[in-house]
Amino acid sequence: MSKITLSVIKADIGGYVGHTDVHPDLLEVAKKMLKEKGDMLIDFHVTRVGDDIQLIMTHREGVDSEKIHKLAWDTFLACTERARELKLYGAGQDLLKDSFSGNIKGMGPGVAEMEFEERKSEPVVIFIADKTEPGAWNLPLYKMFADPFNTAGLIIDPSMHQGFKFEVYDMYEGKKIVFNTPEELYDMLVFIGATGRYCIRKVYTKNNEIAAVSSTQRMNLMAGKYIGKDDPVLIVRCQNGLPAVGEVLEAFANPHLVFGWMRGSHTGPMIPVSLEDAVPTRFDGPPRVCALGFQLKEGKLIGPQDLFKDIAFDSARKKALEIADYMRTLGPFEPHRLPLQELEYTTLPHLMEKLKDRWEKD
Ligand code: F6R
Ligand code: MG
Ligand code: MG
Repeated sequence: MSKITLSVIKADIGGYVGHTDVHPDLLEVAKKMLKEKGDMLIDFHVTRVGDDIQLIMTHREGVDSEKIHKLAWDTFLACTERARELKLYGAGQDLLKDSFSGNIKGMGPGVAEMEFEERKSEPVVIFIADKTEPGAWNLPLYKMFADPFNTAGLIIDPSMHQGFKFEVYDMYEGKKIVFNTPEELYDMLVFIGATGRYCIRKVYTKNNEIAAVSSTQRMNLMAGKYIGKDDPVLIVRCQNGLPAVGEVLEAFANPHLVFGWMRGSHTGPMIPVSLEDAVPTRFDGPPRVCALGFQLKEGKLIGPQDLFKDIAFDSARKKALEIADYMRTLGPFEPHRLPLQELEYTTLPHLMEKLKDRWEKD
């Protein structure tokens, strides 16, 4: 049986209202495009979190397929056209190039793709987040695949006991390294704890079976100036030798602090929410994460289940809101406001220029 590819390609191509949500017309345009132009797809699902649209697609074209990437690009262009008609906020903001050039990576949209042999039963969870960045997945991925306090299977399931392999990507240098866990946990943590620079891009079993893939674009680095946050996506395969769905979701039960929020320049808690509650309005946030569960059936997407709708995440939400209240009280002070080198709307160069003659040697 030929392998299935699961591609999740996302972009912010206009907000409704401001940067809070996606206008329903844009989702309709995206669905229509994938239906009409997506002959090569087995199935697709269009969704959104905050102001980002995600195209979830299954096919047999492999990862980095020009056909699939072009389809996503053309779909986002069509959505942009509608966004412009409605004068939505920041229409086309994530489409950094004028014309498609073979691969959508480096052109603005975020991409996570994996190719695998579909198992007897194939549960997958697709995480989608708004008002944060790819490094936001580091802590939850570490918990899912390397922390026995989160994932009981690491101890109890003989097929997980040997651990996993993590591919870590340096977003500044464009370099990658693979760590074996649990053997190299302490080495790996030095890097993945620095979420603004290093991010976990892939997780494999020790038998090289793909288990998780995240989107790792950093748009502000790509564009050379602030364009918008590269709100990330993550695909995780579950069960039967991989973390259970509940172990994968458990990684979000204690809301961790991530970079993003207002102007991409603040630290705040990541709140696990249902799709309905994924409209970040308070101080343009706080950051949100949704989890869509699917069973694959020869590539057909059976689902989604809106997994964070569970009331068992209510206390995580409550805690996140308390953290949000507290962080807001810090106003323009670190660590609520990001350190200068991480500020995306950096006023620093202008201010330095303006004040350069007033700084005296002391
Ligand atoms: C954060 C985000 C928003 C905007 C903010 C200002 O990722 O997108 O918080 O940064 O609303 O937007 P502009 O500069 O477009 O007015
Ligand atoms: Mg936006
Ligand atoms: Mg967004």
